[in-house]
Amino acid sequence: MMYPLNNISFTAKPGETTAFIGSTGSGKSTLVNLIPRFFDVTEGSITLDGVDIREVEKEELRKNIGYVPQKAVLFSGTIASNIAYGCENASEDTIEEAAEISQSKEFIMAKPNKYQSSIAQGGANVSGGQKQRLSIARAIARHPKIYVFDDSFSALDFKTDAVLRKELSKVTGNSTVLIVAQRISTILHADKIVVLDEGKIAGIGTHKELMKNNEVYRQIASSQLSQADIEATLA
Ligand SMILES: Nc1ncnc2c1ncn2[C@@H]1O[C@H](COP(=O)(O)OP(=O)(O)OP(=O)(O)O)[C@@H](O)[C@H]1O
Ligand SMILES: [Mg+2]
Repeated sequence: MMYPLNNISFTAKPGETTAFIGSTGSGKSTLVNLIPRFFDVTEGSITLDGVDIREVEKEELRKNIGYVPQKAVLFSGTIASNIAYGCENASEDTIEEAAEISQSKEFIMAKPNKYQSSIAQGGANVSGGQKQRLSIARAIARHPKIYVFDDSFSALDFKTDAVLRKELSKVTGNSTVLIVAQRISTILHADKIVVLDEGKIAGIGTHKELMKNNEVYRQIASSQLSQADIEATLA
């Protein structure tokens, strides 16, 4: 049984980043997993461009979504085939651009066979952070209308996380970007932050708004940042 979500209502807009934060088990993955229809809502609805997603074929729906799961999945094949997975007609340029944005290029180029390097089943021969970045590259290569990153930046150090998101913002354009994160620093600049607590929305707003009026958010922030850091984010 999944934790029941209830009283959830929000709009994620094209061209904007909507972030989700909340303690472990608060329902973030459950919520974003509803978007590619890994599960369907039992009450209420999710609409995409005004259409209930339950009325859209899963395959059709997923074509529009670049979903990066919390636990990155790689398949046996090559680096290139893993990045192109799901859009087999991706050009070399597309694959290389996705590698570059996802901050994968450097470690790929350091391998003797570069993009043709083999990946073992489950990605056993790459590090956790490399796996995560290849899984992000896969979403980028699709040029989706909707990006869903479920805690996809957690295995990256702060600097790589920041550079990746900056590069990503250059190509997401008018796409809708959804980011689940544990770290406040990852979502600080999101257009909208949804705070989840025990399957419910505890608040929605920007970082500044939530710092002013949301106790759950303030607690998360103060557990991660010093008072001085927090003040710097509000300046
Ligand atoms: N496969 C599952 N079977 C049983 N319970 C589950 C399963 N997946 C999630 N849950 C429960 O549903 C609730 C919400 O889980 P969810 O994975 O959405 O949380 P989360 O906010 O993504 O947490 P985290 O930050 O740890 O990823 C939790 O109480 C969890 O125990
Ligand atoms: Mg999760």
